[in-house]
Amino acid sequence: MASSLTAQISCATHPSAPSFSGLRRTCPMLDAAVSFCNRVNPSIRLVSSSQHRSPRGVVAMAGSGKFFVGGNWKCNGTKESISKLISDLNSASLEADVDVVVSPPFVYIDHVKSSMTDRIEISGQNSWVGKGGAFTGEISVEQLKDIGCKWVILGHSERRHVIGEKDEFIGKKAAYALSEGLGVIACIGEKLEEREAGKTFDVCFQQLKAFADAVPSWDKVVVAYEPVWAIGTGKVASPQQAQEVHVAVRDWLKKNVSEEVSSKTRIIYGGSVNGGNCAELAKEEDIDGFLVGGASLKGPEFATIVNSVTSKKVAA
Ligand code: PGA
Repeated sequence: MASSLTAQISCATHPSAPSFSGLRRTCPMLDAAVSFCNRVNPSIRLVSSSQHRSPRGVVAMAGSGKFFVGGNWKCNGTKESISKLISDLNSASLEADVDVVVSPPFVYIDHVKSSMTDRIEISGQNSWVGKGGAFTGEISVEQLKDIGCKWVILGHSERRHVIGEKDEFIGKKAAYALSEGLGVIACIGEKLEEREAGKTFDVCFQQLKAFADAVPSWDKVVVAYEPVWAIGTGKVASPQQAQEVHVAVRDWLKKNVSEEVSSKTRIIYGGSVNGGNCAELAKEEDIDGFLVGGASLKGPEFATIVNSVTSKKVAA
C-alpha cells in the first residue's frame, strides 16, 4: 500500500519526471502529503521527495541536468600563472554534483591536461568549422580531441562582436564539433543597446535558432546566456534578470525543439560572476550553472563558484 501510494503521489506531481543525474528539484506538495500520511499512520513509512535520492538535501532546479561550471580563461596567462592556477585547482575541494570544465588558451592546453586533475574537463575556446587543413591560425575539432578536450565554447560574444562571427557560421561550427563528439558550450546574449530597445528575447532567440537549425542533437549542448553588457564589466545581471531570460530560453526550446530537450539542456549564466554573487544567482531555479571569465583565473574563487551548487540545496 505504502509503495502504491507513493507511486500515485509521485505520478500526480511529476507526470513526466525525467531520470535525474544527482540533482533533483523539490516537490512541496508531495512532501506535505507524505508528512500528513506519516502523521496519520506512522506504520506506513513514506519517503518525502527530499529524502528520496540525496541525503544531503534537494535541489530547486527546473532542468534535469547536473550543475555545470565552466572557466573561460580567454587570452590570459603565462606558463607561470597557469601552473599556479593548476596547482590551486588541484588542491581545491569541489562539490561532487557539478560538471567542472576549464578553457585555457590553446597553447597551454597540453600543459593543463598533463598536470591538472581529471576531475576537471577541458574545453577549447573556439574551433574551426570543418575538418582541419589549410586554414592558417585555426584549430580543428580533431586537434582539440587529440589533445584531450571534451568541450568547445562557440558563439562567445567576443567572437561574435570583436572577430565578427555570424550566427550561421557559429551554428555550422557547433554541428561539426558535435558530429565529432565534442560537447558544445553554445553562447548567446544581447548587447546593452538591444536590451534597452526591448530586444533581449528577440536577439537570444535568433542566436538560439541558428544553433537549433544546425545541430543534429542537443545531448551534448550546454546553453550559456551571457548578456554582453555584463561580460568583463563587473555589472552582473540580477538573479531576476538572468532567471527571466533562462525561463524564456527553456520555453523556446520546449516550443521549437522538444519538451525533453527543454528539460535536459543546461542553461548556464555568464557575465561578471564571482565568488560574492554566485550563491544568489545559483538559487534561481533555471540557472543550471555558470560560465566564468575573470574570476576563473583565481583557483579558490573559481572553487567557490563551483561549490555554489550548495545554495540550490534546501534543508531536508
Ligand atoms: P566575465 O566573463 O566573467 O569576466 O564577465 C564571462 C565570459 O565571457 O564567459
